[in-house]
Amino acid sequence: MIRTRVNELLGIDYPIIQGGMAWVATPKLAAAVSNAGGLGVIGGAAMSPEQLREAIRKAKELTDKPFGVNLILISPQFQDQLEVVLEEWVPVVTLGAGNPVQHIPILKEQGIKVAPVVSSDSLAKLVERAGADFVIAEGMECGGHIGDVTTMVLVPKVVDSVSIPVVAAGGIADGRGFLAALALGAEGIQMGTRFVASVECEAHDNYKKMILKASIRDAVVTGAKLGHPARVIKNVFAKQIQKLEVEDPMKAEEVLVGSLRRAFLDGDTRNGSFMAGQASGLIEEIKPVKEIVEDIVSEAEKLLKELYKRFGGGNL
Ligand SMILES: Cc1cc2nc3c(=O)[nH]c(=O)nc-3n(C[C@H](O)[C@H](O)[C@H](O)COP(=O)(O)O)c2cc1C
Repeated sequence: MIRTRVNELLGIDYPIIQGGMAWVATPKLAAAVSNAGGLGVIGGAAMSPEQLREAIRKAKELTDKPFGVNLILISPQFQDQLEVVLEEWVPVVTLGAGNPVQHIPILKEQGIKVAPVVSSDSLAKLVERAGADFVIAEGMECGGHIGDVTTMVLVPKVVDSVSIPVVAAGGIADGRGFLAALALGAEGIQMGTRFVASVECEAHDNYKKMILKASIRDAVVTGAKLGHPARVIKNVFAKQIQKLEVEDPMKAEEVLVGSLRRAFLDGDTRNGSFMAGQASGLIEEIKPVKEIVEDIVSEAEKLLKELYKRFGGGNL
């Protein structure tokens, strides 16, 4: 059984975290992941403070296991969302899209475990010094907003730079990716795209179908010229943004408003932004969350034994 400091820290069976995803990570999805033995995380970024309060209460009804809330620092509602999290209390908070150093102490004072999402070793060091419990090192293969370093390079660098546990994110969708992350020194994984293509995810069917259909080259970057690059499945809308961000950045910003909602709720394949990572090309099937988690763990354990047989020579 693969157990790491992340299991102990979070009180979970498997060191597998479901990435907080704006719109997509509803209390239903988060509770399903927590009930399956991982850590489910509500994507709070696009919620009003009242919606977030309701979502936290709903998750508490659906699971008695630990779960988390994800907030992003660039949200105009961040401060009010943070207040709600402190009032309602949740076991874990993950913080994306920015430097969260000033907010870590207040969460820690309430006994909340804090995990910033980082895309550089320098930010990892800063958040460790500010008291973060663990960091999520997210490579640019991931879905949603991206940094500029790959998981393969970022994870070992962050592992070498901090002594708190590191969770690897970006491009992981099966047991091979899980085991590779452990080999890089990570003590857990965070997956987003794999959980979008799950039965319990409340995204429109078209969203899940886009992920199943995608090849490994179909998750493209939009918004790089606007200063907020995001990885999405290629469609007419993505091409339109790539053109507009060069020719008319204001217009690009305008049409981007509500585009993830149009994908998630309406399944609008023409005008929606279907955020997803390169791992879409590895996903062939929509599965229940429990099966996703258990398959990944058993595949990694089986592979570990096979590798040991092949390369351990029986003498190690
Ligand atoms: C649809 C979607 C929305 C996302 N929204 C957020 C978000 O609101 N906050 C955040 O920190 N990360 C967000 N992410 C990133 C995920 O939490 C996770 O780190 C990432 O998906 C991992 O890479 P993968 O997609 O290759 O599994 C999002 C990802 C996706 C696919």
